[in-house]
Amino acid sequence: MVGVDAPSRAMPGPRVIFLGPPGAGKGTQAARLAAHLSVPRISTGDILREAIAAGTPLGRQAGPIMEKGGLVPDSLLIGLIDERLGGQDCARGYILDGFPRTLPQAEGFEGMRCGDAVAEVFVFNVDVPREELLRRLSGRRWCPTCQSTYHVDNNPPKKDLLCDREGARLIQREDDKETAVARRLAEYDARTAPLVEYYKRRSRFHDIDGYRPVESVFGELTAIVGGGR
Ligand code: AP5
Ligand code: MG
Repeated sequence: MVGVDAPSRAMPGPRVIFLGPPGAGKGTQAARLAAHLSVPRISTGDILREAIAAGTPLGRQAGPIMEKGGLVPDSLLIGLIDERLGGQDCARGYILDGFPRTLPQAEGFEGMRCGDAVAEVFVFNVDVPREELLRRLSGRRWCPTCQSTYHVDNNPPKKDLLCDREGARLIQREDDKETAVARRLAEYDARTAPLVEYYKRRSRFHDIDGYRPVESVFGELTAIVGGGR
């Protein structure tokens, strides 16, 4: 008998994981690539921020951890992504932005509905010098309504500090403040960076120089994954 998840196995579309430290440009590139490939972008940071705004049990648990720059427990993230990848819109591919970011999460991913063929997954490891990461994070501004991202110098909104799409007032993410950024970078070094070696051996792994204009990074990504539909 054919199971409900059989179509995703029979016709796997592009599946992409973005690795890289905070501020490397994962979200910026993931959003563009998702539009280019017509597949969903699944940003765990955005999902958690939405849960916080909505005051759900997940949001209440994640909020205080995220604010300080820590990582939310693996079991919560694994459950959340397993459920999300079961969605019909993921059957033809997806972009993961922010997951996995620990070894237990990477192992959990391989037991999931759409995550079984890890050898077929594109993994982009976006790297940027630390000094530039700090510049990007301190200048980032964010729309709390639609989650669009800007930068005060290199990607400013058209008008004052208002979102181009929503007109909402842009704010600084709580975890983009100095102390939380230091903790996020330390968490990245200790718990996420080991995934580079993990995926080098298991997936279609590519190191990507993220210290270039957005268009130039995007051009390299599309050359690797191929054109849109
Ligand atoms: P998340 O929202 O995923 O944050 P992050 O990984 O720290 O990454 P950022 O969103 O800060 O950076 P980015 O690489 O997306 O860069 P962006 O494109 O915005 O996670 C937040 C928190 O949620 C975590 O700390 C954790 O608590 C929790 N969480 C999420 N997932 C989890 C998981 N799996 N497990 C446990 N906890 C989890 O770009 C940054 C800035 O630079 C922007 O202003 C942008 O305009 C600019 N920029 C981008 N590209 C360029 C470029 N090429 N040149 C110049 N400027 C650029
Ligand atoms: Mg992001």
